[in-house]
Amino acid sequence: MSGNVAAESSFERDLETHLTALMEGRLEALREQFRAESWVLLGRLLPATWEQRAREEAWGVLERRGVRRDLTVPETGDSPRRMRNVRQSEIAAEANVLPSLYYADATRLLVSAVAECRVTLCPFVPERFVLAAMSRAGDTHGWHWDDYAYSLVYLIDAPPLDAGAAVEYLPGVPWEKRRPRVDEHVAAGRLRSRRVESGEAYLLKGDSTLHRVAPLERDAMRVVYAMAYAHPDDLTRPITHETTEALYR
Ligand SMILES: [Fe+2]
Repeated sequence: MSGNVAAESSFERDLETHLTALMEGRLEALREQFRAESWVLLGRLLPATWEQRAREEAWGVLERRGVRRDLTVPETGDSPRRMRNVRQSEIAAEANVLPSLYYADATRLLVSAVAECRVTLCPFVPERFVLAAMSRAGDTHGWHWDDYAYSLVYLIDAPPLDAGAAVEYLPGVPWEKRRPRVDEHVAAGRLRSRRVESGEAYLLKGDSTLHRVAPLERDAMRVVYAMAYAHPDDLTRPITHETTEALYR
């Protein structure tokens, strides 16, 4: 067994133990909140012994492969994206723990258990997992929806409390790509704003929840690893990928 394979199987074992404990006694509460809000804070996603390794991988790939983006997306009401990000293929080629986390059975079991749906890997490979870093005042991941049903977002580095960049969302809003009406939805809805700490992850029903990361109010680091899983219906309905095509070209 090569060192890498051994490390991966020990990662998967540790992850399974950790995620089983994470759900123990809390699963019904997590389900209830997710049902009601389309958003739920899961807690610390990785076993403590693997957190630093995942963080080092993320920072390494960001440093080598990160691309600065500053654009707006017409399908999401011309909302801005100002950040540095890394494509799925580069993370897959250059990291170990991060892709293993995405593909682990234990991760899919966690998402399936909380979402009460047997989720699958995202069929569109470039959207399976990505890294995004905000660092400068004004950086933001503007209002948008996700193409696939479930987004599991792992906060590698949360910014300090006073730096802004909260997760904001509005559940139960359908995405009409030709007429997104983002400003109308935001003006009419009751926005939720959440703070997520470093090491924590949340699950979001991203295809029917309008959401954003509010702008950084000053220079500070915010690094996330975002993973996408599909609902069985996603495998048969036609899905286009304008946002990913614009953001990772
Ligand atoms: Fe999203």
